[in-house]
Amino acid sequence: MKNILNKKLNLKGKKVLLRVDLNVPMKNGAITEISRIEKIIPTINLLLEKHAKIIIISHIGRPKGKMVKEMSLKPISEKLSSLLKKEVLFNKDLINENTASEVNKISNGSIIMLENIRFNEGEELNDSEFSKKISDLGDIYINDAFSCSHRSHASVEGITKYIPSYFGLQITEEISALKKITSEIKKPVSLIIGGSKISTKIKIINNLIKKFNNIIIVGGMANTMLKHTGTNIGKSICEHDCGALIREIIENSKKHNCEITIPKDVIVSKSLDGIGKEKNINQVEENEMILDIGTKTISSIETIINNSKTVLWNGPAGYFENPNFQNGTKKILELISKKTKKDKIFSIAGGGETVAAIKKFKKFNSFTFVSTAGGAFLEYLEGKTLPAIKALNQNV
Ligand code: 3PG
Repeated sequence: MKNILNKKLNLKGKKVLLRVDLNVPMKNGAITEISRIEKIIPTINLLLEKHAKIIIISHIGRPKGKMVKEMSLKPISEKLSSLLKKEVLFNKDLINENTASEVNKISNGSIIMLENIRFNEGEELNDSEFSKKISDLGDIYINDAFSCSHRSHASVEGITKYIPSYFGLQITEEISALKKITSEIKKPVSLIIGGSKISTKIKIINNLIKKFNNIIIVGGMANTMLKHTGTNIGKSICEHDCGALIREIIENSKKHNCEITIPKDVIVSKSLDGIGKEKNINQVEENEMILDIGTKTISSIETIINNSKTVLWNGPAGYFENPNFQNGTKKILELISKKTKKDKIFSIAGGGETVAAIKKFKKFNSFTFVSTAGGAFLEYLEGKTLPAIKALNQNV
């Protein structure tokens, strides 16, 4: 793995093309959440220490090869500048014949950010001419955008064919954390998986079932599992036509000796904004919906977490947006947090809703690692090879 920490890598005066993910949420032109901007600061500081000329490449949104005013990176360059307390120049144009001369003007230890790379048609097409054009702007390329590495786009994949390419600090940290739940696992290892649809997570379950000792299924996904195994779930959300998927999970769990745990008791209500009532799983009525896990289920999860050396969590246990149904999700967070602190187990969490729950309950420091990568995180767990990572490994 070619990493920018490599001591032999002399970056003084070198033009470094740094691909990062600044795809942050925005509302009415204002940034609403900045963790992706904060995360790239260590890599930028390292490059500044090495007196490199930093050319930042990123995207925001899906403008489909067109200039879309609302998807400009300009406000993000300003935010980065205020966080770094340092000027960040901004090049507002598409990549064209003038870009090189703009970039060549910057001095050692300076930063310029290019406008949203997805405004250029060649980016998402992974066009080779466009990839070469971007590579010509720099001397070396660094990918520090794990969360974009599942895309075969020019600025993460194509570019590596034309320029010496390296892994940044953040992507290296993310990959080494993910290896601890895929190829370098300390067992017993347990997965707690929730969220609404089992069909979107089936590939993750079937990939991890081969290596994991326990899989605990919670949230809306558990309803589907319960329904297909003959339990009445009333009017709870669930997926239909999933019989084959459920059979596959059960067969694979037997084959690979992985224990599957589903809720024994639940919190039900007649509506999403109602109050909850705890019931055993066989007591759910037709007009009720399952909105959280119950006390006995939480206690089974506690036993499993306490017997694990590695824990992966993806997907909430209930409808945590309503405080009446947040207990399961909150308790899982607390249990993992306690175990991580006490026994220094390896714990990792990731996925959109999971990160939202971690933020809501302010538990970012409860895990050894929290991935904010979304799609790339899920594809990695499915066992897929991410094209941009493969390209970096092939770059010589
Ligand atoms: C993300 O937010 O997951 C990344 O920025 C990738 O964005 P995309 O799904 O639009 O490729």
